[in-house]
Amino acid sequence: MAGNITFTMIKPDAVEAGNIGNILQMIEADGFTIKAMKYTKLSSEKAGEFYAIHKERPFYGELVEFMSRGPIVAAILEKDNAVEDFRKLIGSTNPEEAAEGTVRKKYAKSIGENAVHGSDSDENAVIEANFHFAGTEIF
Ligand code: GTP
Ligand code: MG
Repeated sequence: MAGNITFTMIKPDAVEAGNIGNILQMIEADGFTIKAMKYTKLSSEKAGEFYAIHKERPFYGELVEFMSRGPIVAAILEKDNAVEDFRKLIGSTNPEEAAEGTVRKKYAKSIGENAVHGSDSDENAVIEANFHFAGTEIF
């Protein structure tokens, strides 16, 4: 799978704002195919584990609380050059710096509540996909 998949979450802020459909529309319009998808909610333990790399950062507590406060949509997406293309589609972490037409420019509220997650490497895409989905849920 490596190389042509990425993992995404539509984060609680975007779900609360009613933007699931708008974001999925942008993803499909950009040529990504959905290989797995679920509407779910992270426990604070799961959110903490997922973002463990940021454990020492000052915003870690806030990040874990945010990511576990409401439902999310988790998905595995497929496209050539998936990781890089998806990061381009979602835009910079801080929506104030995100390019016009990107998901975060349109739908993110702040650097913390920024609507969507995208894997940062092929290796992490596979790890994150396996963190959220069993083999039987991927098509
Ligand atoms: P992800 O796709 O969610 O991994 O975002 P990213 O790769 O663009 O950014 P990064 O991995 O550096 O940070 C992970 C997440 O932590 C961000 O998406 C934000 O939700 C949150 N975050 C990052 N920086 C800050 C910050 O300065 N303040 C707060 N409150 N949250 C932050
Ligand atoms: Mg990241």
